[in-house]
Amino acid sequence: MCGIISVLSFRDNISKDLISALERLEYRGYDSAGIAYFDENSNLQRIRTVGKVKLLKEVVQKFDIKSNIGIGHTRWATHGKVTEFNAHPHVADGVAIVHNGIIENYQELRNSLISEGYEFESETDTEVVAKLIASNIKSGKDFIEAFKSAISKLSGTFAIVAIYEKEPNLLLGAKKGSPMAVGLSSDKQSCYIASDAVALSTLADELAYLEEGDIVVVRKFDHLSFEIFENGKDKIEREIVPNKVSLNDVAKNGYESFMLKEISEEAMVARRTFERFKYDINLSKYDSVSIVACGTSYYAGLLSKYWIEEIAKVHVDVEIASEFRYRNPVFSKNSLYIFISQSGETIDTLCAMRLVKEAGIKTLALVNVETSSIAREADIVVKTEAGVEIGVASTKAFVAQTLSLLMMCKKDIDIEAIERSINSVLNSQYDFAKMANKLKNSKSLFYIGRGTNYPISLEGALKIKELSYISAEGYPAGEIKHGPIAIIDENVYTIALAPFDNHFEKTISNTQEILARNGKIFLITTENSRELLHGLDKHEKVDSLFLPEIYSLYQPFALTTVIHLLAYNTAKAKGYDVDKPRNLAKSVTVE
Ligand code: F6R
Repeated sequence: MCGIISVLSFRDNISKDLISALERLEYRGYDSAGIAYFDENSNLQRIRTVGKVKLLKEVVQKFDIKSNIGIGHTRWATHGKVTEFNAHPHVADGVAIVHNGIIENYQELRNSLISEGYEFESETDTEVVAKLIASNIKSGKDFIEAFKSAISKLSGTFAIVAIYEKEPNLLLGAKKGSPMAVGLSSDKQSCYIASDAVALSTLADELAYLEEGDIVVVRKFDHLSFEIFENGKDKIEREIVPNKVSLNDVAKNGYESFMLKEISEEAMVARRTFERFKYDINLSKYDSVSIVACGTSYYAGLLSKYWIEEIAKVHVDVEIASEFRYRNPVFSKNSLYIFISQSGETIDTLCAMRLVKEAGIKTLALVNVETSSIAREADIVVKTEAGVEIGVASTKAFVAQTLSLLMMCKKDIDIEAIERSINSVLNSQYDFAKMANKLKNSKSLFYIGRGTNYPISLEGALKIKELSYISAEGYPAGEIKHGPIAIIDENVYTIALAPFDNHFEKTISNTQEILARNGKIFLITTENSRELLHGLDKHEKVDSLFLPEIYSLYQPFALTTVIHLLAYNTAKAKGYDVDKPRNLAKSVTVE
C-alpha cells in the first residue's frame, strides 16, 4: 500500500525515472501521486495530483524539470481523504518525505510539534515525520542525525525516504514493516531507493533489500554509494541480489490490461509451477495443518483443505490472518503452519506468522515474491511460480498457489490434463462478454458450489465484487436455503458451479430451488452432464456454459479461469478499470 521511489543521480532528468517507477508502483495504490525535487537553484519543488499517476505525468511533463535528486509517491489513503493536501510528498522547512505504512503515534507527535509552533496542512500521519526531521535540524542536528532521531521516535510501520534542500547530495531511507530496496543503475550514474523490485525493473539490475530497522544513506561525491545501518547504528552489508523483474514482466505485451494478460498466462503458470516444484513436504507426518492467509490467498487455502484432508488424510484449519493473530490461538506443536501470500507483504499474514514463530513452531510460507518480508522470515519457503502479478485482483497467482498446495499432498499430478483444461477455457469461443452484459446490471448475485466448487465460488464472488462493485456472495450450494434464498427474486443472478462430480445432482437440485423462486441461473457445468440436466439448460431463466469433461480433481483449475474471465468481462462491460479497481491496492501493508 503506497509506493515510494527516490533517486540521487549525476543525470538531471530524474523526473523521468520517478514517473516511470511510479507507473509501475501504481498497483500499490492510486488515490493520488506526487513528486518533490530540488530545482537548479536548489529550491525544493513539489507537484501533487489527485488520481492516478497518468494525471501527475501530464502535469510534470509541462515543466522542464532539471534536477539530480527527487522522491515520488503513489498513495493508498489511510489517514485523511483523497485530496491534494493529503498527497505525498510532505514537506517542512526544506525537508521532503514520502512514506508507506502507518505512524501509530502520530497524534502524540503532532501535538508536541504544534506546541513547538508547527502548523499542519494535511490530515495525514506522515506529515509529522517531515516536521519532526525539520525540528531536529532546527535544534542543531545534521540531516542524518535529525533523520535517525526522528525515525527512532516513530511507532508503527514505515518505509520512509527523505531529502533536504541544504544537503542535495544525500538521500536517506528507513524501513520498519514496509518493504524497501536500494540499487544503483548499471552505469552507476543513479542510485534509487524504492518499495520494490518492480519499481526498479528498468532502473537497477542489482538490489539490496533492507531489513527491519535498517537505515540507508545514499551519498553523491565523485561517485554514488550507499551504506546501510542496522537499527540505524552499526554499518552492515546486506546481500546484493539481481533484480529479477524484467521489462517483459511489467509490460502489457499487447494485452489491453494486465489482468487479461495474467489470466491468459494461467495455463503456462500451472506448467511452470509443476516443473519448478522441488519441495519434499510430507503433510502426513503432521497431526494437522493450519493455513493462514487473506483474501484470494485464503480461498486458495480453503480449496486445499478439501484436497489435503482427502489425499493426505490430515486435518486442516484455514484461518483469516487478521482474526487468527488477535484471538489468542491455541498452538499445536506437531502442526504445520502454512502462510499464503502472493505479495509476501500482507501485514496481517506476516504478523500471524511471527506469532507462530514466537511460540517456537516452524512456519512454511507459500509466497510469490521470494525477497518479500514473509519469505525472508519463514522457516521454510515454497515459492509460487506465477511471475510478477501487476493487476490488483489476483488471478494467475491463485493458480500457482492452488497447484502448489495440491502438489504438497499429491506427487503424481497429470499436468497435461490441468493445462488442457485451462486452455479449453482460454482458447474457447465461450461468450463471456454476452454473459457479462447480463450480469452487469445485477444489484447482487450469488456464486454457489459444493465441495471444491465452494472455495471457487468464494473466489468468483470476490472477483466480481472487487472489479464490478456488484454485491456478490459465494455460498455452499446446500446452505443457500438456510437464509440467503430470501434474497432471490427475478433480478438476482446465481452462478452455479456444477461440473459433473459427486455433488452434481445435489447442486442441480439447489439451482432448481432458486429457479422455483424466479431467480436467474448461470450454470457452469461439463459436457458429460448434458444428458443428466434433462433440459434444465434450456429453461428460459438459465444460461449455461459447458466445459469439456474434466477429471474432478482438476476441475477447480478450469473453473478458476472461467470465474476470472467472467469477472474481467463484467467489469469491462461496466466500463471499469480492471487493473485498478477503486479503493484497493495490491500489497496490503496496513492492518
Ligand atoms: C483479491 C486479492 C486480495 C489478496 C489479499 C492477500 O483479488 O488479490 O484479496 O489476495 O489482499 O494478498 P496477498 O496474497 O499478497 O497476501
